[in-house]
Amino acid sequence: MTEAMDDGAPFYLRGVHAPVDEEVEAFDLPVEGAIPPELDGRFLRNGPNPASGDPGHWFLGDGMLHGVRIEGGRARWYRNRWVRTRALTEGARWMQPDGRLDDTAGLANTHVVAHAGRILALVENGYPWEVDPDLGTIGVHDFGGRLEGPMTAHPKICAETGEMHFFGYSFAPPYLRYHRIDADGRLAFSREIEIPRPVMMHDFAITRDFVIFMDLPLVFSLEAAARGGMPYAFDEAAGARLGFLPRANPEASVVWVEVEPCYVFHPLNAWNEGGRVVLDVARYPELWRRSSRVFDQAMLHRFEIDLAPASGSPRVAESPLDDLPIEFPRVEESRTGLRHRFGYAAWTSLEHGIAGRGHVRYDLETGGREIWDGGAALVASEAVFVPAGPKASEEEGWLMGYVHDVERDESAFAIWDATRLAKGPVARVALPQRVPMGFHGSWIPESGTGS
Ligand SMILES: [Fe+2]
Repeated sequence: MTEAMDDGAPFYLRGVHAPVDEEVEAFDLPVEGAIPPELDGRFLRNGPNPASGDPGHWFLGDGMLHGVRIEGGRARWYRNRWVRTRALTEGARWMQPDGRLDDTAGLANTHVVAHAGRILALVENGYPWEVDPDLGTIGVHDFGGRLEGPMTAHPKICAETGEMHFFGYSFAPPYLRYHRIDADGRLAFSREIEIPRPVMMHDFAITRDFVIFMDLPLVFSLEAAARGGMPYAFDEAAGARLGFLPRANPEASVVWVEVEPCYVFHPLNAWNEGGRVVLDVARYPELWRRSSRVFDQAMLHRFEIDLAPASGSPRVAESPLDDLPIEFPRVEESRTGLRHRFGYAAWTSLEHGIAGRGHVRYDLETGGREIWDGGAALVASEAVFVPAGPKASEEEGWLMGYVHDVERDESAFAIWDATRLAKGPVARVALPQRVPMGFHGSWIPESGTGS
């Protein structure tokens, strides 16, 4: 567990988490090693970077994007930009004095994804903010005025259909909505989904046939709100359940299956064969029981659900898959919802607040794992998997993400060969300023920027 440190500043304002004050850019950056020449695109990553003061929680800083443009074996540019949200530029507040929630006033600080030619900066309590390929802010994006309520920061893009599935949750009714965007970027379907109480629902999963919701007992709590930080607290008495909605009939009732109380920020992936569903996640036995400023550690965990057993109700089996503390699990994007063999995650340490100390690749068929240990002085942010090419096998590709050397106070954009992870980065791009440990990012191929 980790919380406020000795000098009184909370961990998210110190050390590797401390916000940076300036927006900078640099061109033709120095490279140690060799950038794979076939990579042509941008690595963009989002994270909280409060413009001033203490926002009260790690999750509540203004969104800042850090991007690197890779082309022809070179690092063409690095730049960082705040997402110019209404919260940043006008001081707009998500919660109005009369208690109403303003979906145009989110912080856009959690993830950045590309879909249908748009790049969207996301946070789970508001609308997306569209940015351009050079990280300039275009404006709030509400899908032509059709989106009702907030959008999760973790939409899922189906590689088979090009659709983007997502949900939005709120502590004000309706507590949960599900939405589907078609491959052209139009909001094609929305519905409300009934859950018994407002919970913090950070992420979800899709398979070829199902959308999977996680109703886990991080419950909206006025008591927690009064303590400051996030207004949610762990309450296992609320129970925990996974919900399954058939993609082919999204008006249907959700089938809910009880699981052991726990919390999951992030699934790795899910897939199904008929009524048998496999969902791999980074699972916390509990989270925020006493304070939302105290973080525990998660481990890789599998749920296997039989939705249509020969007799009786749906059944679930749970099994821990590993004992390494991890977060930021990722799978090859084109396998989202399809059977995966390999998964990647940051190996987390609480030494620097909460941060990665390396990365791990899991082989979920053999049960094996390969670890890159960055060493005690190195902090690794989330790494994203990029396939080596259109015909590459599932394991062939690159991991990429930001690292920071605490002793040298130097940040780099690093690229690893995913099949030789333990050997360390094949390329390091030296960056002109520290990149704080942040949240999530995407590799956006040049063909996917809309430019
Ligand atoms: Fe997340």
